[in-house]
Amino acid sequence: MTKHVLPVKPDDAFKSEILAGLNAWQKKISSKWLYDDVGSHLFEAITELDAYYPTRTELGILEKNARKYSRLPGARGAMVELGSGSSRKTNLLLDACPDLSVYMPIDISTNHLREAADRIRRAHPSLAVIPVAADFTQPLGQLPLLPELPVLVFFPGSTIGNFEKSEAAQLLKNIRTAMPDATMIIGVDRPKDEKTLVKAYDDPAGVTAAFNQNLMQRMNRELEANFDLSSFAHKAIWNAEESRIEMHLESLCDQAVSVAGEPVNFLKGETIHTENSHKYSEEAFAEIANEGGWRVLDQDSDKKGLFSVYTLKAV
Ligand SMILES: C[S@@+](CC[C@H](N)C(=O)[O-])C[C@H]1O[C@@H](n2cnc3c(N)ncnc32)[C@H](O)[C@@H]1O
Repeated sequence: MTKHVLPVKPDDAFKSEILAGLNAWQKKISSKWLYDDVGSHLFEAITELDAYYPTRTELGILEKNARKYSRLPGARGAMVELGSGSSRKTNLLLDACPDLSVYMPIDISTNHLREAADRIRRAHPSLAVIPVAADFTQPLGQLPLLPELPVLVFFPGSTIGNFEKSEAAQLLKNIRTAMPDATMIIGVDRPKDEKTLVKAYDDPAGVTAAFNQNLMQRMNRELEANFDLSSFAHKAIWNAEESRIEMHLESLCDQAVSVAGEPVNFLKGETIHTENSHKYSEEAFAEIANEGGWRVLDQDSDKKGLFSVYTLKAV
């Protein structure tokens, strides 16, 4: 019996997590809250930018290796995708795996998920498409949905890089516990020169800045906050020690903002830390995968070595 992720209504936690994060010493909001309708569409726009190398690079790797992936055991059963977004990369795999019978995309961005699921249904009418609007960082549930089907977990986009290293290992552990015999295809960004990295997260057209600033607009919309967007700046910083790009919103002056009726004070230069994007060497990622209960079976990369797609097996 294969277990699945228990649907959790993502919006329920928004207010409490935001208030807790804004009251911390280093103000911090989980990057999962960047993805409402507007944020998801802005993320899609980012993936089209010249500066944003990860999407086109990962797509190239998937395209080149799709036939190989189609021979994995799960490719004849059910594909469960974590953080599926527009499911654009999935189409490549679905085309290469005609024997898949179920596709279960899981994403926190509810409307975006439904739109993507509808597109997949139209393109693959014989596939059972079961979208799950959920926060996959929540405890994994025990939904016995797919008896007797091998499972292929698809986790692209280097979304795993958004987690602190210990959280990433824990998330992989949770996935393994919920889907104990699964195979996983997971996209992971690699370390590279600082200039390329910073440009990818602070593009000249300002799309990533708009994506980050949308978080303030979201709090204004959903939590009756009164952030003045012009008094915060988007920052993308390479933290070499942690091997990650950090996104922040930096207050340009001393100011007080009201969020859900609570005052939040900012000093000039103080930031809200809104996203981490860890970059992993093969050795560093293998360590996290092993800690999470997965063995690396294979690793595919592009010619320039910018990005990796790993095949993992639950152990
Ligand atoms: C970096 S984007 C990747 C999107 C897509 N998979 C790709 O490769 O282009 C991260 C995706 O994961 C979703 N996401 C982020 N955190 C999540 C969470 N905790 N639970 C469920 N979905 C999440 C976002 O809504 C978004 O679609």
